[in-house]
Amino acid sequence: MNDRANGCTEGAAQDNGGRPAERLQKYLARAGVGSRRYCEELIRCGRVTVDGQVVRLLGAKAPPGAKIAVDGKPADGAEPSGGRLYIALNKPAGVISSAKDQFGRTTVVDVVGAGAGRRVYPVGRLDYDTSGLILLTDDGEFAYKASHPKFGAEKAYEAACASPVSEEAAESLRRGVDIGGGFVTSPARVYLCVEDPRKLTVVIHEGKNRQVRRMISAVGLTVASLKRVAIGGAVLGGLAEGEWRMLTRTEAMLAFEPYAYGLHQD
Ligand code: URA
Repeated sequence: MNDRANGCTEGAAQDNGGRPAERLQKYLARAGVGSRRYCEELIRCGRVTVDGQVVRLLGAKAPPGAKIAVDGKPADGAEPSGGRLYIALNKPAGVISSAKDQFGRTTVVDVVGAGAGRRVYPVGRLDYDTSGLILLTDDGEFAYKASHPKFGAEKAYEAACASPVSEEAAESLRRGVDIGGGFVTSPARVYLCVEDPRKLTVVIHEGKNRQVRRMISAVGLTVASLKRVAIGGAVLGGLAEGEWRMLTRTEAMLAFEPYAYGLHQD
């Protein structure tokens, strides 16, 4: 594949009908590939083609009618998701995971903005001070199942603690701990980070309020930061905070598969 700005110009190109051509990243965002910033990154990485040719030029404008693809798949706004929208967002800490906030704080729906092209709703919750993966969709049945504990979607969280995590603490978390109110957590999968002794990954399928933070404090540790990295087999991947991307229905359904620790490391 050649690596040139095939058919793209940096100036104000006009299409056959006299309408101005659209910047590639704007086209991709409007087609629902992801946020403008995410689409710029795709272009920079050489994953976007126009009429079969890689385009890395950020200012490039795509002539209407050109065949635009990401990783070889057409990005023409056609929904690869059975008519439903599924979005993976890396929620920054300090953003509310509900659709509306009575105090006017930024919500996950605000972060996705008009880019989704349709009204979408968050699937389940993620605390205000927790970052990471949250799914948004307009598919009510999917939202219900993916957020309901009875369907057992696993969620994986990476926590950084204020001090090193011992193997004993990890073992207690694995067995289950009393997080108050008479609730003892079910057995969890817990992985200590080899590179940083303050970090661990906790995989749970329950969804009590602030459960991971409460589990970690139950073993005498303080959480410095918490990030959700997976909902089942649907993973955060390389999305930076505030970035989002459209999922195919198949990718969204991975939310019901077990989280495969070790297979998804970036
Ligand atoms: N557990 C927490 O403590 N916080 C979250 O946001 C999710 C799970």
